[in-house]
Amino acid sequence: MDNVAGRVAFVTGAASGIGLGMTRAFLNAGMKVMLADIEQKALDRTMATLRQALPSNRSDDVASVVVDVAERHSVFQAANATLETFGKIHAVCNNAGVTSGGHIEDCTEGDWKWVIGVNFLGVIHGCQAFIPHIKRQGEGGHIVNTSSMAGVLGGMPDWAPYNSTKYSVVGLTEVIRQEGREGGYGASVLCPGGVATNIFDAPRNRGDQYGPQQSTVARDVSADDIRKGLNPDIVGRLVLEAVLADRLFIFTDPRLKGRVERRHEKMMLDFEWAANSKALTESGAPGASKKS
Ligand SMILES: NC(=O)c1ccc[n+]([C@@H]2O[C@H](COP(=O)([O-])OP(=O)(O)OC[C@H]3O[C@@H](n4cnc5c(N)ncnc54)[C@H](O)[C@@H]3O)[C@@H](O)[C@H]2O)c1
Repeated sequence: MDNVAGRVAFVTGAASGIGLGMTRAFLNAGMKVMLADIEQKALDRTMATLRQALPSNRSDDVASVVVDVAERHSVFQAANATLETFGKIHAVCNNAGVTSGGHIEDCTEGDWKWVIGVNFLGVIHGCQAFIPHIKRQGEGGHIVNTSSMAGVLGGMPDWAPYNSTKYSVVGLTEVIRQEGREGGYGASVLCPGGVATNIFDAPRNRGDQYGPQQSTVARDVSADDIRKGLNPDIVGRLVLEAVLADRLFIFTDPRLKGRVERRHEKMMLDFEWAANSKALTESGAPGASKKS
C-alpha cells in the first residue's frame, strides 16, 4: 500500500497496548479503523477517547466490534461488520495475543488450546476472513500479523506455548507474503521486543473452558521488562511506516539483532556438522563433504 488516507483498517486486540498504538497511528494518517477486541468495556472506553480526539467530521472513522479471535465464526462476523460499516477493507492487523508459561510438562491442554487459539488460529482466521475481500476489491492491501521476538530468537525456556505460536505466525506470514504477490496485497510480521502494555495481565481474558492458568512468565522475560518497554504508540507509527515501505519483518528493538545472528550462526554450524557427518559422507549423500 503506498497511500493510506481514506483506507480502511481492521485491528484485533485494539482496546489495549500495541493494537491501540496501531489504531492511533492509522487514524492520524487519515484511515478509518474497525477496532476488534474481546473486552467490551475496554473497547467502549477506548472508542470514547479516540472519538474525542478526532475532529467532529471524522467521528465515524472509528467503529468497534467484539470478537473472540480464537473462534472462526466470530472473526468472520467481525469481517462482515467491518464491510457493512466501511464498505471496504485494506489493512488487516491480526494482533490480539495472550501468554501462558510454565515447564513443558506443566503446561495444561487448556494452556495450549488457549494460546494456540488466540495467537495462531486467531491470525489464520483474520487472514481467511479478509483476504478474499482484499483480492476482490483489487485496490491493494496489507496484512500485519503480530508475532514477537519470541518468534525469531532461539527457544525461550518456560514459554513453550507462546514461543511456538509466535514462530508459527512468522512462518504463516512468509507464506502469505508470497501468495500476496499474485493476490495484490503485502504482508508483514511484527516482532516486538518489550513494549509497555497489559500483556502480562493476559489471563483476564482466559475463558473458563481453558481451565486455571499456572504461570504467565517466561524465564527470560519479566513483567518489569514489559513495564519499562517501548511506548505502544511508537510501535504503531513504526508499523505504518513499515507497511508503506512494504517490509517483511517489523522489529521494534534493533539491539536484539545480535541474538538473531547468533541463532543463525548455530544453524550454519549444524549444516557444516551434517556435511561432515559419518552418515552423509560415508553414503555419498548430496551435499556431503567428499571423503579424503
Ligand atoms: N508487549 C510486548 O512486550 C509484546 C512483545 C512481543 C509481542 N507482543 C504481542 O503483541 C500483541 C498485542 O499484545 P499487547 O502487548 O498489546 O498486550 P495487551 O494485553 O495490552 O493487548 C492485547 C489485546 O488483545 C485482546 N485479546 C485477548 N484475547 C483476545 C481474543 N481471544 N480475541 C480478541 N481480542 C483478544 C485483549 O483484550 C487486549 O486488548 C500480542 O500478540 C503479543 O503477543 C507483545
